[in-house]
Amino acid sequence: MCGIVGYCGPRRVVPVILEGLRRLEYRGYDSAGIVYLEGERLVKYRSEGKLSRLEAIIDEAIIAPAHIGLGHTRWATHGAPTTTNAHPHSDCTGNLVVIHNGIIENYHSLREELKNKGHVFASQTDTEVLAHLIEEYLNKDLVAAVKKAVARLEGSFAVGVLWAGMPDTLIAIRNQSPLVLGVSENDGTFLASDIPALLPYTKQVVFMDDMEMAILKADGFEVFSLVTGEPVKKEVKTIDWNAAMAEKSGFKHFMQKEIFEQPQAITNTVSGRINPESGEIVLPEMHLTEDDVQNIDRIFLVACGTSWHAALVAKYWLEKYANIPVEVDIASEFRYRHLLINERVLTVAISQSGETADTLAGIRIAKEMGAKIITICNVVGSTMTRESHGTVYTHAGPEIGVASTKAFTAQLAALFLFTLYLAQKKTTISAEQSMELGRDLIGISTVVERELPRIQQEVQALVERYYDCRDFLFIGRGLNYPIALEGALKLKEISYIHAEGYASGELKHGPIALIDKDMPVLALVPQDEVYQKSISNVEEIKARQGRIILIGTDGDSHLRNITDDIIYMPKVANAMNPILYTIPAQLLAYEIATKRGCDVDQPRNLAKSVTVE
Ligand code: AGP
Repeated sequence: MCGIVGYCGPRRVVPVILEGLRRLEYRGYDSAGIVYLEGERLVKYRSEGKLSRLEAIIDEAIIAPAHIGLGHTRWATHGAPTTTNAHPHSDCTGNLVVIHNGIIENYHSLREELKNKGHVFASQTDTEVLAHLIEEYLNKDLVAAVKKAVARLEGSFAVGVLWAGMPDTLIAIRNQSPLVLGVSENDGTFLASDIPALLPYTKQVVFMDDMEMAILKADGFEVFSLVTGEPVKKEVKTIDWNAAMAEKSGFKHFMQKEIFEQPQAITNTVSGRINPESGEIVLPEMHLTEDDVQNIDRIFLVACGTSWHAALVAKYWLEKYANIPVEVDIASEFRYRHLLINERVLTVAISQSGETADTLAGIRIAKEMGAKIITICNVVGSTMTRESHGTVYTHAGPEIGVASTKAFTAQLAALFLFTLYLAQKKTTISAEQSMELGRDLIGISTVVERELPRIQQEVQALVERYYDCRDFLFIGRGLNYPIALEGALKLKEISYIHAEGYASGELKHGPIALIDKDMPVLALVPQDEVYQKSISNVEEIKARQGRIILIGTDGDSHLRNITDDIIYMPKVANAMNPILYTIPAQLLAYEIATKRGCDVDQPRNLAKSVTVE
């Protein structure tokens, strides 16, 4: 989720681009760059780290007599966050530059093809491939060359292109990654990956759609379909957000925005990692050889907090589908335990930030004991990823809210890919089953996207009855037990209500003593392998006047007889229930905390990354 800004018009371009990039700062970034055309010369500045590092090296360029350019802040997905990998990227001549947001899935094969044709690459990014691909097709017609190049791409991309040979034109391409144009009477034409960058200059915007190309000039723009080649008439919309609202794309909080970004986060994490024809799982960044996989006796999953809940879900998947014994440990315990670890124990750290002190300490110990270390992480180049033998990156984009939401469901997606990868290598599942499970994973983001607005409405209708509770129990069985834990953590960390997650079967071993008419219980009861047992647990609660919110399967009318409130969820593959059933739990926590006036994005006492013990 990078920041993209472009401009052509009467204003000096450098200040416009820098201001735009500043307003996309919430999107997070690890490097930044700017390019503009001064006379016939492309001038490019890039730096790693925060935007201020780029501003520090630009100095007199601020007043450069230049009126067309592009800017970019990077959230690394392919290639470490270095100056060399910062955008914009150039072709061999240096006269054509591109900036990009998204993932070009087939960049490896394109890169090899272009290298064989003599192109020389400077970075490890997927983006640079596009610059050389356009160069390969470029004769005198930039538009035609860009069309041919884009037709070769697979994956998601929002792209800006500038060529010294066409000094009055910017080209923008959108496919599965947001791009919006800013239009004005006589102040030029703007391009951005998100609305906040445009607001200082215009509130008149045009949202590009997938497989569209826009040609921007100082006095206006044209949009064409890359599918039909025909011009597309676009509606100009007026934005009535203020800057603060715009940073959250109109949502009230980053957490709410990130809950609704989960379909994209899951899609981006899965994208390019399942071969659509064969169903083969492709995770090259793990650097696991066939021998490494066959050599695995046991897997240790190590994490903290929400990431530990993801590890608990993964245990069920790995043992069921890959037939590998799995131990799960909270990192702060793992690091001080007497560990029975050797080179046959694959140790997997799960961490959104890649900087959590306990988890980092844990993998260092395991590494010293001979274990191979894999990290499931959302931040490219973070400490954990640099100290691991391999990684599986989630592509959730920067998560600003302290309470983890999209990073969690992206971790689940990555862990399911990891499971299928091992199951395929160890042939513990058939090719057909693997294909089916891969399709289930690919499809779950569509289900989440479709259901989110309805679940939000149904949760909002419940909040009045539950927001002032002092305690809450969350229960689930099997794959949904970790989701009960996660729901309890979400509620307690942002609303400050005491909440506990329990395995449903554990109620009778003590917690049922808490049940009375004042104790609300959220029970996860999908029609899965342990459904009947879960129903029995709910009936035990009902018999003691407990207040129940049931999350169950569409059409299960029996549930209405044993609950006070219910939210129905569509039937999906049981393996996908942890991803789907997380949504109502997240939204309940969010709506209750909001109703209680809590600081949802920055809860008291919490930090986004716990880099100390
Ligand atoms: C998430 O909602 C919590 N804020 C917290 O438990 C978090 O999951 C934990 O600190 C681990 O962080 P990490 O994933 O960055 O390692």
